Amino acid sequence: MTRHFLRDDDLTPQEQAEVLALAAEVKRSPFAHRPLEGPRGIGVLFDKNSTRTRFSFELGVAQLGGHAVVVDSGSTQLGREETLADTGRVLSRFVEAIVWRTYGQERLEEMAAAASVPVVNALSDEFHPCQVLADLQTVIEHKGRIAGLTMTYLGDGANNMAHSLMLGGATAGMNVIVSAPSGFDPDPDVVTAATKIGAQTGASVLVESDPVAAVDGADVVVTDTWVSMGQEDDGKDRAAPFVPYQVNAELLGHAAQDAIVLHCLPAHRGEEISDEVIDGPRSVVFDEAENRLHAQKALLIWLLANQ
Ligand code: CP
Ligand code: NVA
Repeated sequence: MTRHFLRDDDLTPQEQAEVLALAAEVKRSPFAHRPLEGPRGIGVLFDKNSTRTRFSFELGVAQLGGHAVVVDSGSTQLGREETLADTGRVLSRFVEAIVWRTYGQERLEEMAAAASVPVVNALSDEFHPCQVLADLQTVIEHKGRIAGLTMTYLGDGANNMAHSLMLGGATAGMNVIVSAPSGFDPDPDVVTAATKIGAQTGASVLVESDPVAAVDGADVVVTDTWVSMGQEDDGKDRAAPFVPYQVNAELLGHAAQDAIVLHCLPAHRGEEISDEVIDGPRSVVFDEAENRLHAQKALLIWLLANQ
C-alpha cells in the first residue's frame, strides 16, 4: 500500500516523532541526505497561491539531490479537464512523489487512489499537514518538549490550520484548544478523530468559544487568517465576529509567561494578529516559516524510505 500524507493522522504518533527527529537532524546537516540523487523527480502542483510552500519544496527537493517540477495545475492538462486519476497515473511514471495544493480534500484522495507514488497534501480547504509538522518542530525547538503542552488556536475554527493543529497536535500528545466565533467551529468529525488519537497519546482536544478562557495558561498561541484562500466571497462576515479573537498583547497576557506565538503566514497584521505581537519577543513565526524546508525534507526522506 502506497503511503500518502493527506492529513496529519496519516502518520502514527511513533511515525510523526520519527519525522520530527529527522527534521531536526536535517536542519543540523542540510546537505547530508541525498535520496533523490539522479536527479529523481518530485511533482509540485498548485491550484492556489503560495510563497513558503513553493520555495521550501522546490529548494528542499534540490537539496535532497532531486529535481522538482513545479507547476500551476491550471497550466497543465488538468486545466483542460484531464481527470485526476489519469494525471495521478501519468505523474507516477515520472516522479517519486506528488505534492499538491488544491481545494477539496476529496480531490487529493482521488489523485492518491490512482497514484502509485506518495501524494502529499500541500494545503487543502480542510487540512495543512506540512505546515503543522513545521509548527511542531518549532515548538520542540523553543520549548524543548512537546507532549503535555497546551496549544491554543484562535480564529476560524473550521479552516485547514485549525483542523491540522487538532490532528497533528493530538498526535504529538499536546492539549489542543480551538477558540472560534459562533458559526466557525471545527468539523465535528475532526474533533472526534483528534479526541480518539488523544486517548492513545494522552492529549486532549477542547473547543472553547471564550478567547480569554481558551488562552489562559497556554504554552503555545496560534492564529491564522480569518479569510482562507477560496473563502473571499463565501458570504460570511469574516471580520466583526472575529475581533475578540485577535492575538494582541492584552489577550496574550492571559497565556503562560513564556508562551510562544505561531502563525503559518501570510499574516494580516491588525486583523488576526497585532504588529506588536507578531514583531514581539514571543513570536517565532519566521523560525516556523524556515522549518517548512526542514520538516518537508524530512517528510520526503521518510516517505521514500517507508513505501
Ligand atoms: N504557510 C503557507 O503555507 O504559506 P504559503 O501559502 O506562502 O505557501
Ligand atoms: N488558512 C490559510 C492558510 C494559508 C497558508 C489559507 O488556506 O489560506
